[in-house]
Amino acid sequence: MASLTIRKLDETVKTYLRLRSAKNRRSVEEEVRVILRELIEGREEPLTPFAVRPAPSPAPTSQRTGALPEASVTLIIGGGIAAYKSLDLIRRLKERRIEVRCVLTKAAQEFVTSLAASALSHERVYTDLFDPQSEFDAGHIRLARDCDLIVVAPATADLMAKMAGGHADDLASAILLATNRKILLAPAMNPLMWNNAATRRNVSLLQRDGVVLIGPNSGEMAEAGEAGTGRMSEAVEIAAAAERLLRPPVPRPLAGKRVLITAGPTHEPIDPVRYIANRSSGKQGFAIAAAAQAAGAEVILVSGPVDLSDPQGVTVKHVESARQMLEQVQASLPVDIAIFAAAVADWRVASEGEQKLKKTSAGMPPLQLVENPDILATISKLTDQRPPLVIGFAAETEHLIDNAKSKLDRKGCDWIVANDVSPATGVMGGDRNTVHLISRKNGESTGEIAVDSWPAMTKEQVATELVARLVKSVTGKSLEPAS
Ligand code: C5P
Repeated sequence: MASLTIRKLDETVKTYLRLRSAKNRRSVEEEVRVILRELIEGREEPLTPFAVRPAPSPAPTSQRTGALPEASVTLIIGGGIAAYKSLDLIRRLKERRIEVRCVLTKAAQEFVTSLAASALSHERVYTDLFDPQSEFDAGHIRLARDCDLIVVAPATADLMAKMAGGHADDLASAILLATNRKILLAPAMNPLMWNNAATRRNVSLLQRDGVVLIGPNSGEMAEAGEAGTGRMSEAVEIAAAAERLLRPPVPRPLAGKRVLITAGPTHEPIDPVRYIANRSSGKQGFAIAAAAQAAGAEVILVSGPVDLSDPQGVTVKHVESARQMLEQVQASLPVDIAIFAAAVADWRVASEGEQKLKKTSAGMPPLQLVENPDILATISKLTDQRPPLVIGFAAETEHLIDNAKSKLDRKGCDWIVANDVSPATGVMGGDRNTVHLISRKNGESTGEIAVDSWPAMTKEQVATELVARLVKSVTGKSLEPAS
């Protein structure tokens, strides 16, 4: 059997083992044995020396937002009667898939116990700046930074004064001074303390420093017969405020707008087993559908046969031929924006064979072609239900800009997204695209045509950029770049 020399392990592993074994009060060798046993039993814990996080509980998912990203909070519980609500706050945060590590000030321990906070958070509770177990590697720094947000509840007048003055003489104030994370305070104090000039000064100083406050609320105080402003916000209010800071609402600038998109090729049947098609993958149209949906639009995607999964939250109507596509497009009206990204076959076979065509001695069967309906032109020229903004695509292999400009007029649409699809570009079926946005200056139906050439980018980036233009066009506002 081989033996393992801890000394020879690499530094990261050694540090992890040292921290973990100290935390669990085991020797390093013993800790290695525990880790191996856990691994074998399939109970591997994440490689975080700080806190042994429980396995994530099943994520509450919503169709719109998908799984919630995990987040963690260092919750500093100050010394006040409202501290009992902070125990409930631990549960409210955990319900929202926010992990909580508690720090109790000396005064807080007069109101709630570390044991209660630890049982509810499933984590060790920290109370002492000079705790040899956590401080041998500057535990207060990790408590200050190994989290996404610091919540102080209750935030007493004293704690706020310490923060405003930059004190660091206990674990809570040291964490608050050492952090580079956002801080949320839930003040709780007697109304006279809240209204005291010193507290008012401290509050405005802290707000100027970027600290966020929730509450305090007005109402009866714990002290008999006293009422006013100073009650700590309820646990659910604080948890909601924490969540807003951790997971800021995604802007939905296209909310309330209906966007129709066509994508993919069309298949024009020759007989029951053969068809005329093209090389369109549908990737660009699908990416636009996903981006418009993410911007809050109600999206209807009419797609020809593609090898892509339906984008989440989008109504997808699957079709085969150009005529079916037109039918579904017409059935989807009215819409605010229509984007025609499909590579519709221009022609179809005049009379589709009912049976598979056979080879005969008479030679090749003649394929009589007839023109398909032009969906883009049909919708652009509608008089009653014409969408306010109609966008076409021009996939060209030569004279890209000139062809696209003349298409703008011929089709009667408002914008054309032109791209070079020569085989050398790899655009057809590929993941990148180089496009030019062609439109009339000032949005008028006649006059000078503007050409906006975008650099080469992925089809997702083209989609995001196009949706940003849509937002600007329909709401007059610029879409903030996603942070
Ligand atoms: O005429 P061309 O096929 O180059 O025009 C391309 C634009 O017109 C694209 O936006 C395409 O989706 C649309 N189109 C259409 N119906 C057709 C042919 C093209 O909607 N039958």
